[in-house]
Amino acid sequence: MLISPSILASDFSHLADEVISIEKAGADLVHIDVMDGMFVPNITLGAPVIKCLRGKTALPFDVHLMIEEPKRYIGDFASAGADIITFHIEATDDVRGTIEEIKKHGIKAAISLKPKTPAEAVFPYLDDLYMVLVMTVEPGFGGQSFMPDMMPKVRAIREEAVRRGLDMRIQVDGGIDDKTVSQATENGADVLVAGSYVFRAQDRKDAIEKLRSHG
Ligand code: DX5
Ligand code: ZN
Repeated sequence: MLISPSILASDFSHLADEVISIEKAGADLVHIDVMDGMFVPNITLGAPVIKCLRGKTALPFDVHLMIEEPKRYIGDFASAGADIITFHIEATDDVRGTIEEIKKHGIKAAISLKPKTPAEAVFPYLDDLYMVLVMTVEPGFGGQSFMPDMMPKVRAIREEAVRRGLDMRIQVDGGIDDKTVSQATENGADVLVAGSYVFRAQDRKDAIEKLRSHG
C-alpha cells in the first residue's frame, strides 16, 4: 500500500514545509495535481514549482497531469523531477505516443480515467503501464465526495491485470479518508491519494497510519 498525499490541499505559501511535513508523517509519495484551466476548470501549478520542490524531499513525485495534450510537456515535468507521470486518457488522441514519451525519459507511466470513462478504455495499454488512476471524483477540485460507484471499475481493472499476470498498481484519487479507504482497497486499489484528509488532519502521521491500516 502506498500513500500519496495531494499537496492541492496544502498551504501553497509554505509548500516546501508542507512537503517536508508529510515526509515526516510517513507518506510514500507526493501527489502533485497539475491543472491547466482547459482539461479541468481550475489552474494549479506547473513544472517550475515542482523543480523548486525537488531538492526539499527524498520522496518520489507522483505527478497527476490534468492538462490537454500532455505529451507537449512531458520533457518539462521530467526535468523538473517527476518520478511517476499520470495523464488522462481523455486528454489526447495519442495515448501510445504519450506513454512512450514518458518512458523515454525514464519515468513511470500511468493513465487516469475520469468517472464517466469505462475500465475497458485503458485495457489496450495495460501491459505498458506502471499504474492506472481511477478518479473517484470529477477531476478539478479537492474536497469533493468519494464516488462509491467507481468501485466496479477498480475491480474490473484489477481483475484484468491479474488475468494478464501484470504487477500493476491501481491508484484512487478523490474523497479518500478513513471511512472510504477500505472500499477502494477491497476492490484492488493499492495507491491511495488523499488531500483534505491528510492536510486538514490535526495529526498527519495519524491520518496516514489510519489510511494504511484500513487499506
Ligand atoms: C482532484 C485531484 C485530487 C485532489 C484530491 O482533481 O486530482 O488529487 O487533490 O483531494 P481530496 O483528497 O481532498 O478529495
Ligand atoms: Zn490528483
